[in-house]
Amino acid sequence: MEQIHNFDHKPVALIVGVTGMVGLSLAEALKSPTALNGPWKVYGSARRSKPTWFPFAVAVDHYITFNAADLYDTRQKLSPISSEVTHVFWVAIQMREAEEDNIKINEAMLDNVLSVLKSAPAQQYNSPNRN
Ligand SMILES: NC(=O)c1ccc[n+]([C@@H]2O[C@H](COP(=O)([O-])OP(=O)(O)OC[C@H]3O[C@@H](n4cnc5c(N)ncnc54)[C@H](OP(=O)(O)O)[C@@H]3O)[C@@H](O)[C@H]2O)c1
Repeated sequence: MEQIHNFDHKPVALIVGVTGMVGLSLAEALKSPTALNGPWKVYGSARRSKPTWFPFAVAVDHYITFNAADLYDTRQKLSPISSEVTHVFWVAIQMREAEEDNIKINEAMLDNVLSVLKSAPAQQYNSPNRN
């Protein structure tokens, strides 16, 4: 699987849950030229494919779909960008009937995403043009 590296040190966000109420506002804020170190490069993700109402051009550079509850799917979709991402914004949520079930599923989702990102090769900060 080809890795994308972050050679120019720019902040690169992964927003997990970008189609949610919080996720979309966050994406728009990071894409703003007035954002600290902005505009950021933003990968936005959700479980389902991009909704028709989603303002793609202003909110994200790339939209990714994966089910964070599924480690295999998460690995397949996140591995290629895991060396590039500098900041993760966790705004995904699953709601179940019982609080115990909420904890279980949301913890598993977060674990899956972090384990894929942590298994990425260390970030390489050398310019590709530098020897
Ligand atoms: N909304 C508020 O007013 C508010 C206020 C304060 C704090 N918060 C907190 O902010 C967080 C987000 O809330 P929200 O209201 O924005 O939630 P939301 O509208 O329900 O959005 C949840 C997001 O998570 C994604 N998601 C859910 N399950 C997923 C999975 N298995 N894999 C990948 N993505 C998944 C959803 O994508 P799909 O739809 O494709 O599954 C969606 O993008 C929560 O922790 C909430 O407690 C919310």
